[in-house]
Amino acid sequence: MKVTYPLILINYKTYLESLGNRGILLAKAAERISTEYGICIAVAPQFLDIQKIATEVSIPVFSQHLDPEPPGSHTGYVTPESVKGAGACGTLLNHSERRLRADTIEDSITRSKELGLLTCVCANTSRVGMALSALNPDMVAIEPPELIGSGISVSKAKPEVIKSAVEMIKSVNPAVHVLCGAGITDGTDVLRAMELGSEGVLVASGVVKAKDPEKILRDFASTLTR
Ligand code: G3P
Repeated sequence: MKVTYPLILINYKTYLESLGNRGILLAKAAERISTEYGICIAVAPQFLDIQKIATEVSIPVFSQHLDPEPPGSHTGYVTPESVKGAGACGTLLNHSERRLRADTIEDSITRSKELGLLTCVCANTSRVGMALSALNPDMVAIEPPELIGSGISVSKAKPEVIKSAVEMIKSVNPAVHVLCGAGITDGTDVLRAMELGSEGVLVASGVVKAKDPEKILRDFASTLTR
């Protein structure tokens, strides 16, 4: 499944609103909006929902995390092979809610690349984003932790973070696509993020917990096609 930019990547986290059948319905809404507006919308469900969702929709599916351990004697880990086998085309790594050591991030990126999985590495600051871009992920997503789940968007509350992240990351590794996230709730937040140089948004509660997620996604996508 091809990922294009601008990208709207919906992190399902462990919200009940995006678990099981509700997650499938959300993915189908994302697919409809993606087709209607020609904008790439990807979803990152919980591990056990990846396979079902990847079978039901034709949009990119990511895992929220994976472990770099190789197949074999490693109980309780989630290998890139299992994520890929379930139908995902990429993974989030190092989310603020699932932070990793730098060497583990590097190993996870290397293993993912070997299997053709895209990597979106999260960073809490521009400087961390710059450092992680040297590990050659496909995307770096800047998310100030204090704004996550707040409904106050990074693009409006901390525009300087996005601007500096784009400059710093591109100076180290121009091939890395820069996304941003935290508190994104409407189309104006998405538009502002793009104006600041972001190539997409990573969003969770603003979509997952919305009364009408499809309406919110339409608002995001229409902003990107204007
Ligand atoms: O991964 C996306 C996330 O951390 C942002 O969360 O709820 O502020 O959109 P939220």
